[in-house]
Amino acid sequence: MQKVWLDGELIDAEKAKVGILTHSLQYGSGIFEGIRSYSIKKNSRTAIFRLDDHIKRFFRSAKIYSMDLNYNETQIADAIIALLKANKLSSSYIRPFSFYNDQNIGLSVANKKISVFIAAVDFGNYFINKENGIKCKISSWRRFNSSIVPIQAKASGNYINSILCSIEAKHAGYDEAIILSNNGYVAEGPGENIFIVKDNELITPDNSSDILLGITRDSVIKIAKSNGLTVTERKIHREELYTSDEAFFTGTAAEITPIVNIDGINISKGIAGEITKSISRRFYDIVSGKDEDFKDWLTIV
Ligand SMILES: Cc1ncc(COP(=O)(O)O)c(C=O)c1O
Repeated sequence: MQKVWLDGELIDAEKAKVGILTHSLQYGSGIFEGIRSYSIKKNSRTAIFRLDDHIKRFFRSAKIYSMDLNYNETQIADAIIALLKANKLSSSYIRPFSFYNDQNIGLSVANKKISVFIAAVDFGNYFINKENGIKCKISSWRRFNSSIVPIQAKASGNYINSILCSIEAKHAGYDEAIILSNNGYVAEGPGENIFIVKDNELITPDNSSDILLGITRDSVIKIAKSNGLTVTERKIHREELYTSDEAFFTGTAAEITPIVNIDGINISKGIAGEITKSISRRFYDIVSGKDEDFKDWLTIV
């Protein structure tokens, strides 16, 4: 029986229930994280990737929305480790989620009960075409920005914009969307950051491009620099995507996913580029414990 962690206890997943009027179900008022764990072949252990950074972001998201979680960072980290052990999970996706567990109509969150659950599931590739690279469409929907909702908070309501963009891309026969910021610069994917390669330089939208500052993005910047590459964070024009030598998405779910076509235009001749492949190899060596250069990113379970 699969276990989930709910408000301090590991319980059977099928006993973890909420009512249909739950505030966060009606209004998208939950905050969450997405974390991966990987199998470490050499000692048959499991490693959680950048657990502390994900937990910090979880608590920052909560703080932005004035949500008091009733647990501290260590308690959530311990709960995640206990959950993976209880479910005997190795390569998994872990979803901590905090929400207003209340049964009333009405937007107010005053005095509403706040619950936290953590679920974890076996997880492989997020994109079916990941190995060969994916085809993306620039969305006709624009990304929201911090004058509308705080974009550094992973709030469930934020993802309705992402979902619209993905629906449009998939209806048009593409694998995923690329979203522009309201001023027309490249922002990110629905749940991914984006990088391009131009003349051996790695370029990614900067902090003012209306992006979530992803933890995988940060990891890739550090890996690329340690591989001797120049990395530049700056605004990217839409047409720079079409003329890039390589492009790829990063994200906890997407990991490193090559982008081989944008709006029908082939990137790197329609196959994953060499720099993308070399960063990707190093990333997987790090998360699977083969490359120990960034071993402090792994929490061994
Ligand atoms: C909108 C958005 N951008 C980027 C990312 C990538 O962030 P991370 O690498 O921390 O998973 C995510 C995933 O969390 C996301 O939801």
